[in-house]
Amino acid sequence: MSDTPVHSDALVFLGATGDLAYKKIFPALQSMIRHGHLDVPVIGVAKAGWNLDQFRDRAKASLAEHGGGVDADAFAKLLTLLRYVDGDYNDAATFVALRRELRDSQHPLHYLAIPQTLFATVVEQLDRSGSAKGARVVLEKPFGRDLESAKKLNEILLKVFDEADIFRIDHYLGKEAVQNLIVLRFANSFLEPIWNRRYVESVQITMAEQFGVQGRGSFYEETGAIRDVVQNHLLQIIGCLAMEPPATTYHEAVRDELVKVFRQTKPLEPGALVRGQFRGYTQEPGVAPDSKVETFAAVRLAIASWRWDGVPFFIRTGKCLPLTTNEVIVKLKRPPVTTLATGQGNYFRFELSPDVRIALGMRIKKPGEAMVSELSELSFVHYPSNDDMDAYERLLGDAMLGDAILFARQDAVEACWKIVQPVLGDVVPLEQYDPGSWGPSAAEKLTTDVGGWSRLSGEKSGEK
Ligand code: BG6
Repeated sequence: MSDTPVHSDALVFLGATGDLAYKKIFPALQSMIRHGHLDVPVIGVAKAGWNLDQFRDRAKASLAEHGGGVDADAFAKLLTLLRYVDGDYNDAATFVALRRELRDSQHPLHYLAIPQTLFATVVEQLDRSGSAKGARVVLEKPFGRDLESAKKLNEILLKVFDEADIFRIDHYLGKEAVQNLIVLRFANSFLEPIWNRRYVESVQITMAEQFGVQGRGSFYEETGAIRDVVQNHLLQIIGCLAMEPPATTYHEAVRDELVKVFRQTKPLEPGALVRGQFRGYTQEPGVAPDSKVETFAAVRLAIASWRWDGVPFFIRTGKCLPLTTNEVIVKLKRPPVTTLATGQGNYFRFELSPDVRIALGMRIKKPGEAMVSELSELSFVHYPSNDDMDAYERLLGDAMLGDAILFARQDAVEACWKIVQPVLGDVVPLEQYDPGSWGPSAAEKLTTDVGGWSRLSGEKSGEK
């Protein structure tokens, strides 16, 4: 299908009793209904031994806990749309039942909210049962475990679906604050002259989580921080920060510019990565007692482009860190020969979550007799409200409309695997860190030549 995109006429989500459905999908469905964007059957598929009533109860519990509360009208509507198929993914009968439950739907959207080890089986079963005909498919990252498996997965998908009908979700691309990085860069003329190696000293991205693996031990054992968030979410942020202006004349322009950044990013060498594991991780349910999986990663990347040559891009992410925040700091070089600008230089700060804030760090005169400066932040804050469109809501809506622009394209997925491929596994030894710390001390050394990791907005004040 897909020369003229049609609206999907049913939404099937496999893994309907799982964690992702509970935390993200039910809340997205409620919001879609509230915004008038969902009016087709929603069929959950899972192997839980449940019936429709139990499935509806699960939806209600999810909305109470993660959906900002149950909206009575929207929930009443959701109840009329929900259907449920219980069964094993290896059993052809499950998919025969699914096709039956799809009734007269011709263009369903299948959302695979399941472990990636099941993708191939499920895609084949969808095909054999006739459920893939005229359909679209949505997959959750990580897409494969490395470059080779990502290619294999793609081959399997392409046997059944056209590329235009495959939607690879990286929910960071659907986040308002991430999209804003692109808008901010290209909708303001004052940024472009300084957004390059002549003015920018370094770029630092910190995605810190105060919590641990939250019962997702067995999932995390298969991924680790690099596969879970570096290869996808955090490289996409770098793509938005580093890309060239997209042409306005064709639809794929943004994704074309993103992939160019990934192709210009040098594959990581072991010395550019610090891997950590928080003390206590191996006692988590589902985690091997001798696990070598990292819960912390810090990397130093180089982009070999005219614009960014010599500018280090840093990523730091981890579980059980001192705070939960997602923040980008673009540090500018110092002005030359002046005694007025001692201390922290200029920077842009982009807080992506939990609050959305853009700040400009500037030096202004410290009141008093002496001609000395102090740091001041000019900041614009947007506290997300209940009515903001969540990434999953936006992306599900786009997939149902057949618009893939905010989804990861296969060439970008492969280019991102090439960046992390040399350091996957335990090429770099794992270091332990205490929960509540900023990871192994070696992570500090990665940034020594640019003055260390900049202070984040949630940290105690003081110039750094
Ligand atoms: C998911 C990862 O993709 O993103 C999780 O699997 C992580 O480990 C989550 O916690 C973070 O997403 P957000 O939207 O809360 O920043």
